[in-house]
Amino acid sequence: MNRFNLVSASLNPVIFSLYRKYMYLRYNDTKNYSQGEIIHEKSKKHLLYLSKSLKSHSNYFQSDDSNKIIIKTHEFPNPVGLASGFDKNCELFAPMSYVFGLVTIGTVLKNENPGNIQKPKDGIKRLIVNPNNKSIINSQGYPSLGLDYAVDQLKKNHKNRNRKSKLILSFSGVSNSRSIDDLLTNSEEIIKATHEYVDGYEDSRSSPNTEFNKLIQTEDITSSIMSILNSHAPSKLKLLKISPYSSIDPPKDEIKNKLQLIEQFHESGGDMVILNNSLSINVKETYNISNFNKKNGGLSGDPLYPYTEKLVESVHQKFKNLPIIACGGITNGQKAWNLLNKGASLFEIYSGMTFYGLNLIIQINNTLKSQLSDSSINAFLNKRNKNNLI
Ligand SMILES: Cc1cc2nc3c(=O)[nH]c(=O)nc-3n(C[C@H](O)[C@H](O)[C@H](O)COP(=O)(O)O)c2cc1C
Repeated sequence: MNRFNLVSASLNPVIFSLYRKYMYLRYNDTKNYSQGEIIHEKSKKHLLYLSKSLKSHSNYFQSDDSNKIIIKTHEFPNPVGLASGFDKNCELFAPMSYVFGLVTIGTVLKNENPGNIQKPKDGIKRLIVNPNNKSIINSQGYPSLGLDYAVDQLKKNHKNRNRKSKLILSFSGVSNSRSIDDLLTNSEEIIKATHEYVDGYEDSRSSPNTEFNKLIQTEDITSSIMSILNSHAPSKLKLLKISPYSSIDPPKDEIKNKLQLIEQFHESGGDMVILNNSLSINVKETYNISNFNKKNGGLSGDPLYPYTEKLVESVHQKFKNLPIIACGGITNGQKAWNLLNKGASLFEIYSGMTFYGLNLIIQINNTLKSQLSDSSINAFLNKRNKNNLI
């Protein structure tokens, strides 16, 4: 089968589901990596193999201007983005830029980091994929090949990317020292070394799998990181990724704190928020899974969706003019359409992409097109925001 046919085949839901089944039969846990991580690495190789044909068939994903969206002065060829964590080491962004409207790479760390411990053969896992409820639980803890590797990849591949799609680098300055000074110095080094290759940055302090993150989701650190971004990358898009509410009906204080953090970001020149990261859950209590490496893990996929909807709605009500990228449990076009109505402007997917493949991008775009009928997304957003102001 030539590469053209492989792209078409990969977009067929039945063929993708057979491919997925084959991968799960073919590969199993090894001593050092869980099944899900091994399949992820193999699938990345398959996607790289398809690079040229994804480029020549980008019209499947970005066929006309109907789903083009302009936010402030930034233009996105379609509103569906790849969420951070999928391409942690910046190896895939060139082919992905021909299918997604925005591609988030990373999370990149300054130094190489193996991430949280796992010994799958001994029953200690840091990634569990559940096809029944289309969810992923992970406690990877930012595994990263580090900044030097990321810069090499950016240098090597940036000329091959589709410039119309926005390239966002997710970064974290966390290190073993757990010091705030190091956090800020590392963040600065990452930004200085990468700014000529990317269109924007995602400040990622919301992963539930790094203990230090719980201490640094503060207004002070938000403004320190924003001032680094404002000095070294003034013209780049600045995004902040937020953790979900701890429950669908969160305590008032939690709502207040989250909104204050976002306000600080917005006032310091932040452009958009990504709502949300995965949800911290007690893995044994919630799913009766006892072979996980930590008590808590981050839940992604379908069960996260109601949390995404809640956060999008509450942030949009408070900050009508702050563009929102909805992320979390978007596994079909109808959910994207609901989120557009609740206040989102763009979308990002991770789990949905692993369960349904690249066809999910097309499905979301087609659903939005048919729901909007003659209207463009921008016209819809203008009307929505105006109505909401009344
Ligand atoms: C295996 C895995 C690794 C992830 N790694 C990162 C990461 O490095 N940085 C980050 O900010 N979010 C990371 N995420 C969170 C995703 O970007 C996304 O916010 C979350 O999975 C919700 O979207 P989804 O339901 O479409 O998966 C990761 C998620 C998964 C499942």
